[in-house]
Amino acid sequence: DSAAGSLPANRGRWSSRFAFILAATGSAVGLGNIWKFPYVTGENGGGAFVLVYLMCIAAVGLPIMMAEVMIGRRGGRSPVNSMRLITERDGLNPAWRLIGVMGVLTAFIILSFYSVIGGWAISYVGVTASGGLAGQSSEGIGEIFSGLLADPGTLMLWHTVFMAMVVLVVARGVRAGLERAVKILMPALFVLLVMVVGYAMTTGHFSEGVAFLFEPNFANLSTSGVLVALGHAFFTLSLGMAIMMAYGSYLPKNVSIAKTAISVSVMDTVVALLAGLAIFPIVFANGLEPGAGPGLIFQTLPLAFGQMPMGSFFGALFFILLVFAAWTSGISLLEPLVEWLEEQKGMNRTISSVVAGVACWALGIASVLSLNLWSDFAPLGSFAMFEGKTIFDLLDFLTANILLPLGGLLVAIFVGWFLSRQALENELSMSARGFALWHNVLRYFTPVAVAVVFIYNLT
Ligand code: PFF
Ligand code: NA
Repeated sequence: DSAAGSLPANRGRWSSRFAFILAATGSAVGLGNIWKFPYVTGENGGGAFVLVYLMCIAAVGLPIMMAEVMIGRRGGRSPVNSMRLITERDGLNPAWRLIGVMGVLTAFIILSFYSVIGGWAISYVGVTASGGLAGQSSEGIGEIFSGLLADPGTLMLWHTVFMAMVVLVVARGVRAGLERAVKILMPALFVLLVMVVGYAMTTGHFSEGVAFLFEPNFANLSTSGVLVALGHAFFTLSLGMAIMMAYGSYLPKNVSIAKTAISVSVMDTVVALLAGLAIFPIVFANGLEPGAGPGLIFQTLPLAFGQMPMGSFFGALFFILLVFAAWTSGISLLEPLVEWLEEQKGMNRTISSVVAGVACWALGIASVLSLNLWSDFAPLGSFAMFEGKTIFDLLDFLTANILLPLGGLLVAIFVGWFLSRQALENELSMSARGFALWHNVLRYFTPVAVAVVFIYNLT
């Protein structure tokens, strides 16, 4: 047991399935749902993209989430050590634990730009609360947003604040309180989203928004759009980087992994779809461009808050809740690196949190500058597929569209082909049919789907 490290005495279990769901939902629901889902949907033509995305959630994301949670619970340790324990016990190649190492690296890169966008959300708490949105035209609102992007100092300030918030919680290990807050704040976010959907219904363009989201027109979907849908399914569910493995290690043995993973995936999907229903009617009502890119929510939601009664109050509340959702996701992104530094480098928790946070913050500066001073700098621009992609775009592409699906592919192959069927059956304790469905999807469908999408896009 020495190689895998012994189980720390204070390593508690989640008190219940519910506690796990809160933590996993806290990680899953974040900027991915409210910021990224609408804009990638807009950039990729709407309905057909959404349909492929939903298929990726159900047929790729969900089975992989179950596989990750299962590895974590079986290993009962941090991802790298769980993988080491399982490979040693079952006589498998120790190189499999690179899944955990790769996850740490991916999480680090994601957090570097996630924090910058988290900073946008913080800055919009002030923008809305100040009342400056009331009666603004879409041009005025667009100028507020482009003014923010053009200002590296302000972006740096809020990026720094966001990262500091994440480091503070991870360093002090006070996750539990925050996760309990998820129980109140997520439903609150949900209610506010429903309110904005209600506003969207009054714009006279609601059905246009619904049609854009749910009427698939495959002529609008490119092969790269399919890759984006797949990558976003991993991103939004926090998969492919061993995070659900880490959380799974705390899950009690008698809890159904399938039901739990379904709950988390459904909640995440509902939040994303609500965000889409809130945003696209506003886009069409104001003659905006669905493919406007990463600024989409910052150019649409403020219009709604500028027009609804008590809009500055609800707007500020909305962005506070968005910051909170991003915060719980950010924490889950820093955690793996901090754990790794503690285990491998013997640093204490405070130092490892600060070291990890500062390193990640520093990488984030590149994303900040790529929004203004370096906005014309496309480092790999000579490759057709990276044409016009700034550093921020490249980091997003590399992580969401390559590293996460690759991590998920490795998990699927490891669990589907290398772990014994008997062990999996014991761990999942599902009906025979449910198990067979999951196992076959993981063994055949998932790897083939990911591989085909890769081959089409990367060759
Ligand atoms: N799932 C988060 C979101 O949708 O905002 C982002 C994220 C968190 C991605 C944690 C990956 C991750 F490991
Ligand atoms: Na998400």
